[in-house]
Amino acid sequence: MVWNAVRAIGVVAMAAVALVGCSKDGPQQPAGAGKTHTRPGEAGKKLIIGFAQVGAESSWRTAETKSIQEEAKKRGWDLEFADGQGKQANQIMALRSFVNQKVDAIILAPIVETGWDEILQTARKAGIPVILVDRGVKVADEDLYITKIASDFVLEGRMAGEWLAKKLAGKGSIVELRGTEGAAPAIDRKKGFEEAIAKHPQMKIILSETAKFERAEGKKVMKTFLETASGKIDAVYAHNDDMALGAIQAIEEKGLKPGADIVLISIDAVKDAFLAMKDGKLNATVECNPLLGPLAFETVQKVLAGQKVDKGIVVQDRLFEAADAEKVLPTREY
Ligand code: AHR
Repeated sequence: MVWNAVRAIGVVAMAAVALVGCSKDGPQQPAGAGKTHTRPGEAGKKLIIGFAQVGAESSWRTAETKSIQEEAKKRGWDLEFADGQGKQANQIMALRSFVNQKVDAIILAPIVETGWDEILQTARKAGIPVILVDRGVKVADEDLYITKIASDFVLEGRMAGEWLAKKLAGKGSIVELRGTEGAAPAIDRKKGFEEAIAKHPQMKIILSETAKFERAEGKKVMKTFLETASGKIDAVYAHNDDMALGAIQAIEEKGLKPGADIVLISIDAVKDAFLAMKDGKLNATVECNPLLGPLAFETVQKVLAGQKVDKGIVVQDRLFEAADAEKVLPTREY
């Protein structure tokens, strides 16, 4: 890797600084104190990591941001946080600014899969390693990023589809609330779900729209589904919990019982989803763990120390049903 070569000199000194930063006694300096860049080999200076986040569209996203910010603080590393506000152009601008600032590494949660080649080439030329968290990219040269730390979204969709097929005994009309257009989780969760229900010819997606992973949009789109569907809607498959929670509101406003009249399954397993399951309004949720901070920083540390890391680090997830809610809720972290 280019960055390994560029950064090989002095990595031992740098790693020592990093390790001191996360000693048991806490950070040597409070996070955010001073803005001195740690360049490899410059002992005594702090590491600076740029984090380009998608935005704050869901509770999952907020939990991921918090996890990364907390881990930076714990280690005493400076974190330059850029909220993309749901726009790829903002994220690209943030990356460019990180390169100009000469950050030590970049953590990127890419909003969509395509359109990253040029800016990633710029980062590579500057010798700055890029670590993807949560979502993947489609680039001509996969060496433009070091690794992707994420859940298997296709598997999540498949788990949701298989669960629903069982619940509906292989027969029913489904409406789908999709995530952001062009985003890896929206593409892959659809794919996995469709693969699973394809084994059941009497299961059909009768309506499918994007609700951008947002609760308010989920409610709006579900309202339209309820008004326009020809025939009964048996189930809602939402690509995230927030959209399902919005759909629940729309279903209730229509005078129907979510979880009973219409089955709902979504993805993320955030606290609010467990509350909805406890109330019997959501039937199941597939976990997608957003607490990626510790793993992301551990990976950055390895990369900056010149160690090899796997190209893909897959986060393991599971499915929760309404019956699990009561037990799981008290310890749910996000
Ligand atoms: O990329 C992960 C997805 O993005 C989460 O499922 C969703 O809630 C978020 O906005």
